[in-house]
Amino acid sequence: MNQAPPNRPVIYLLATGGTIAGRANSPLQTAGYRAGELSVAELLAGVPGLDNIAEIRGEQVCNVASPFITIDIWLSLARRINELLASPEVTGIVVTHGTDSLEETAYFLDLVVKSNKPVVVVGSMRPATSLSPDGPLNLVDAVHVAASPEAQGQGVLVVMNDEIYAARDVSKTHVSQLHTFRSHDLGALGSVYSGVVTFYRKAVRRHTAATEFVIEQLPTLPRVDIIYAYLGADGALIDAAVAAGARGIVLAGMGQGGGTTEQNEALQSAQEQRVVIVRSSRTGSGRILPQSPAGLERGVAITADNLNPQKARILLALALTRTTDRQKIQQMFTIY
Ligand code: SIN
Repeated sequence: MNQAPPNRPVIYLLATGGTIAGRANSPLQTAGYRAGELSVAELLAGVPGLDNIAEIRGEQVCNVASPFITIDIWLSLARRINELLASPEVTGIVVTHGTDSLEETAYFLDLVVKSNKPVVVVGSMRPATSLSPDGPLNLVDAVHVAASPEAQGQGVLVVMNDEIYAARDVSKTHVSQLHTFRSHDLGALGSVYSGVVTFYRKAVRRHTAATEFVIEQLPTLPRVDIIYAYLGADGALIDAAVAAGARGIVLAGMGQGGGTTEQNEALQSAQEQRVVIVRSSRTGSGRILPQSPAGLERGVAITADNLNPQKARILLALALTRTTDRQKIQQMFTIY
């Protein structure tokens, strides 16, 4: 029997569900399976040898497909991570998560985790029962990264398919392929290959311990809705968001964040009702330059830099926990 090496790094595996914990009816089924079925104990049992890399302590946070992750789950996950990382004996955290909303959870954690220790979010595209699942090796890679001194101070990381990405920049870009996670204009931070973790660059936007966002006492996040821009769209959905109590609206705009005439009018009226408007782009890459103070003074909307709409929504919601000052919020979009 193999003896685990002494003095291993201690890694907490916080399991939330997703395809990595998914079960299908047959090994050939890679669509239409049930995400979030395997327990954290079953996940760990499926990866022999993990014990040689680190001492792994598993916790089940929830067990759901990732579209069902809620703000409450985000807040309790982040609080648990902060609590664990405050302990000197804990080296790092791995969060297993469905890939559909993985980029959102990773960016939320990137903005609210208060530690320089590694936090790695990982998923898989094929269920655990697949003939050739990608989850087990992704999990091994994630543990290698979470145990690596190189990963300290790099912010929350996403590890998928041998690559290491910054949570801020990465997105799911393909419905089914294994190489779905990409950071379009910016690329990966590094790679993990046969257990060797290598970083080639750093995420320079402010993150984790250096942010101003504190969630410990927050009951929930302010409501921020995303409205999609498309030809012929009127202002009805924007008006509905305001009526539902939105404190912020992110427009997933055309090109540089544009909406139709009717959407622009509805956004203007929302802004007059003190709803904070941020324009992002539906294109999937590129940046929208920040608004000048004079532009903001004239009532022009805040811009999202190169954050996609779903990430701009997270930053805006957290920004609104600190301020409603539009100049300050625009500044946050250039810092984070
Ligand atoms: C999910 O996001 O939970 C389902 C899809 C996946 O994990 O790949």
